[in-house]
Amino acid sequence: MTTFVNLLELEALAKPRLPIAVFDYFAGGAHDEITLGANRHAYDAIALRPRVLVDVSHRDLSTTLLGATLAFPVLVAPMALQRMAHTDGELATARAVTSLKTLLTVSTLSSVTAEDIRAACALAPWFQIYVHQDRALTEAMLARVSACGYGALVLTVDTPVLGRRERDVRNTFQPPPGVAFANMMAGKGAATTGSSDKDSALAMYFAARHDASVTWKDLAWLRRVCPLPLVLKGVMRGDDAKRAADHGVDAVIVSNHGGRQLDTAVPTIRALPEVAEAAGSRMPVLVDGGVRRGTDVLKALALGARAVLVGRPVLWGLALDGEAGVARVLTTLRDELDIAMALCGCASVADIERDLVVT
Ligand code: GLV
Repeated sequence: MTTFVNLLELEALAKPRLPIAVFDYFAGGAHDEITLGANRHAYDAIALRPRVLVDVSHRDLSTTLLGATLAFPVLVAPMALQRMAHTDGELATARAVTSLKTLLTVSTLSSVTAEDIRAACALAPWFQIYVHQDRALTEAMLARVSACGYGALVLTVDTPVLGRRERDVRNTFQPPPGVAFANMMAGKGAATTGSSDKDSALAMYFAARHDASVTWKDLAWLRRVCPLPLVLKGVMRGDDAKRAADHGVDAVIVSNHGGRQLDTAVPTIRALPEVAEAAGSRMPVLVDGGVRRGTDVLKALALGARAVLVGRPVLWGLALDGEAGVARVLTTLRDELDIAMALCGCASVADIERDLVVT
């Protein structure tokens, strides 16, 4: 196994293991990748105010989320086509998440079926949904995830159209042979992305099939066709968080899609306080984007998040060593959080309060 000490060094270690078009698809962001970088750097600009002489000899990192208990407040973000990183793909990620007793979110665009991923998880994973213009296809997908025991539905709301990822345009990104959108195999000719010598195949897929007309009104339809708790991913403003709560949404994720959608969008950790304030005690708020350190997790919790999601480092761990690589990524982040809590005077996640950070 390739050894690594922290999550920041993973990308460079994984790069030589992957075809360049795959590496770029995973690593890249929209346009100038300003938001991609800013998500990370915004954490570094937040300072900690540690509390001293607290008994931290026993520390409890566990938290609860929509009725589930997680061993530590870090979920794996929904990410497409994980078999491009390792032949076991999402199954390896699911097993690692299960061994660490935390929660997986599964992409609509996974390269293993939703049913097979569900079977590899102990805690009911969450399913991320993109609404296709073909509503019947979407409804069939929702029926499948409800039937096989997912714990929540995560509607991505920052992607009415796909952001322009210039690396993918240059590479005319196309999943490698043998890797496809496994959930779409049974749908109306939707198994593959289609190809072009002009654009990324994912961009073409979205342009052809994704429904850019979805609004708040469609939440009622989603609720009707799928009984699972509903989470919105991509909420970046307090007023939208309030609207979500008013619509009975069960949780929101502050996310800019890892900088892959609207470039120069505000870094998520800076958007979090306004969203958390608007949500109040009505629903939990999560955040993703740029989380690489245990201190980042602590800062996110101090600023109002119940938990964070981690994305790309999981793919790098997967590329390096399959299930063991993902487990090591999660363990590293967990152990860093444990140290950060001890050094900030926090014996449990409930002790992580706003006054621990200077923004
Ligand atoms: C898919 O959702 C992607 O961001 O590539």
